[in-house]
Amino acid sequence: MIRIAICIALILIPVLITGACIDKGETEQNTRQEGEIMLPEPRTAGEISIEEAMLHRRSVRRYTKEAITLNDLSQLLWAAQGITSEEGFRTAPSAGALYPLEVYVVAGNVDGLSDGVYRYRAEGHTLQRIRDGDLRKNLSECALKQTQITDAAVDIVFAAVFKRTTTKYGERGVGYAYIEAGHAAQNVYLQAEASGLGVCAVGAFYEQEVSELLALSHDETPIYILTVGNV
Ligand SMILES: Cc1cc2nc3c(=O)[nH]c(=O)nc-3n(C[C@H](O)[C@H](O)[C@H](O)COP(=O)(O)O)c2cc1C
Repeated sequence: MIRIAICIALILIPVLITGACIDKGETEQNTRQEGEIMLPEPRTAGEISIEEAMLHRRSVRRYTKEAITLNDLSQLLWAAQGITSEEGFRTAPSAGALYPLEVYVVAGNVDGLSDGVYRYRAEGHTLQRIRDGDLRKNLSECALKQTQITDAAVDIVFAAVFKRTTTKYGERGVGYAYIEAGHAAQNVYLQAEASGLGVCAVGAFYEQEVSELLALSHDETPIYILTVGNV
């Protein structure tokens, strides 16, 4: 009798342990997927020429209340820092291909995306949720109460991790990060023009306040905001 019980136990224990491991694995995977939002595949052809986009581009500070789509947002983020080669090169140039920019989204009116703060992950073209809730007005408060920040469907914030470039280029690397934000921002301006959206660059804001609002890490400095909405 005892022998039979031992045999049953020897058979059952590994099965139970394996089952527990599979359950844990699945749970961890689900958690990862919950925090990470897949963005729609960006398109690589459009309806207007680059010349038309440059001709008509303007800083637009008034938006309709119509939401932008997740496709629109995907396209804008791809234009800013999307990966376009197997080696990892991106839509915007970068000194030494060191990519010091991190891109954050303060979403308040995007179809199919909960209001909140997200980090764009170029690898995989996904969004990582950082904070819940509509923080557009709070962001505007950090930027002299500029109303286009509150009225925009999304505010895109570029943060720089200066050490990525200063390690190689010394103090000059700081300037490089600002130059790169300019490249990325112009891409967003032109993409928005091609998508029928309006953009306004915002440089007037208090760094420390924006850092706290977006829960940036100590090595990230917010350097540029782009407000985007329907026109
Ligand atoms: C570095 C930089 C910072 C800017 N900061 C602001 C800003 O804080 N608020 C704003 O309304 N516009 C801002 N702008 C937008 C400029 O006012 C705008 O580009 C300029 O008036 C020219 O108009 P255009 O972009 O329509 O050609 C900024 C532009 C740049 C390049």
